[in-house]
Amino acid sequence: MKEFICNIPKAELHVHIEGTLEPELMFAIAERNKIRLPYKSEEDVRKAYKFRDLQSFLEIYYKGTHVLLKERDFYEITWNYLKKASSQNIRHTEMFFDPQAHTSRGMQFEVIFMGILDAMKEGAEKLGISSKLIMCFQRCMSVESAMETLLLSLPYKEWIIGVGLDSSEIGYPPRKFVSVFERARKEGFLTVAHAGEEGPPDYIWQALNELKVVRIDHGIACVKDILLVNKMKTEKIPLTICPLSNVKLHIFDSLADHNLKQMLDMGLTVTINSDDPAYFGGYLNENFLAIQEFLHLDHNDIYQLIKNSFQATFLTRNEKAILLKELDGFMLKRSHPIPEKAFS
Ligand code: HPA
Ligand code: ZN
Repeated sequence: MKEFICNIPKAELHVHIEGTLEPELMFAIAERNKIRLPYKSEEDVRKAYKFRDLQSFLEIYYKGTHVLLKERDFYEITWNYLKKASSQNIRHTEMFFDPQAHTSRGMQFEVIFMGILDAMKEGAEKLGISSKLIMCFQRCMSVESAMETLLLSLPYKEWIIGVGLDSSEIGYPPRKFVSVFERARKEGFLTVAHAGEEGPPDYIWQALNELKVVRIDHGIACVKDILLVNKMKTEKIPLTICPLSNVKLHIFDSLADHNLKQMLDMGLTVTINSDDPAYFGGYLNENFLAIQEFLHLDHNDIYQLIKNSFQATFLTRNEKAILLKELDGFMLKRSHPIPEKAFS
């Protein structure tokens, strides 16, 4: 099973590029930028990665971003992630970035963006990995700040596939950002939102009905509301589930308690993702391996999760068809019959 999971072609749809900043790179960039870190060693950093909840994680996560000052820094984190992703047989990835975490420290939008874009182009050329970029607004910041950020991004919109909503959830309902998402949709951005990670099902309803998002990030709270589950099933709305993140942030006590298998069996379009792999103890393969072990997923479950993620990408029909064909080819070569319901 381990070899099967590591080798099967896959996609990732929920990863924050700033959340891929490994302690080693954090130290190297801090030294280059002459920034003093509040940690003595890389080991010290890892020891600090013990979180009570989403908020306590975000405080450390945003502090980590303070070392990022130059275009080269953004290039390096993105390039390192893409190399890692490619080594895990990720064929396509859709990455979040948090511009407000940097513009609020005085950085230029263009500097952040160009560093990331250069790495994405190089990833396609040298590694054959395709990637797309989703710009997140921090829901704990003002609507005005989100709108300003949206306007800053417009010159680069052909390279940014969509916008999303992240950061602290409870007390910050998606509804607050209706005007920003409306403008984003008018500008041609696709829309997603973190909802129902720590927050209630109502935040998922708001994201769907009021922000008109086409994918829900996390969304694990949906199972508390059968009407919502039915809507998401009928409309095949994908959910980007991040198992290791959910345990590190104490949404579930253990992976054995995770509701992924329940959602999969309900027929929801669930996918597996790493969220902030440098902080949560693993990249995509580690997430698959851990959840497979704890929930006893079989080959068909893994196949369905990956098929869901290919279908949920923001790629074109043709691009999706190429990925799906590679996936089925992989299954047949391994003599794993393709499950019938998966042909739908
Ligand atoms: N949740 C919300 N906001 C975030 C996260 C997350 O897991 N990671 C980075 N920003
Ligand atoms: Zn996230």
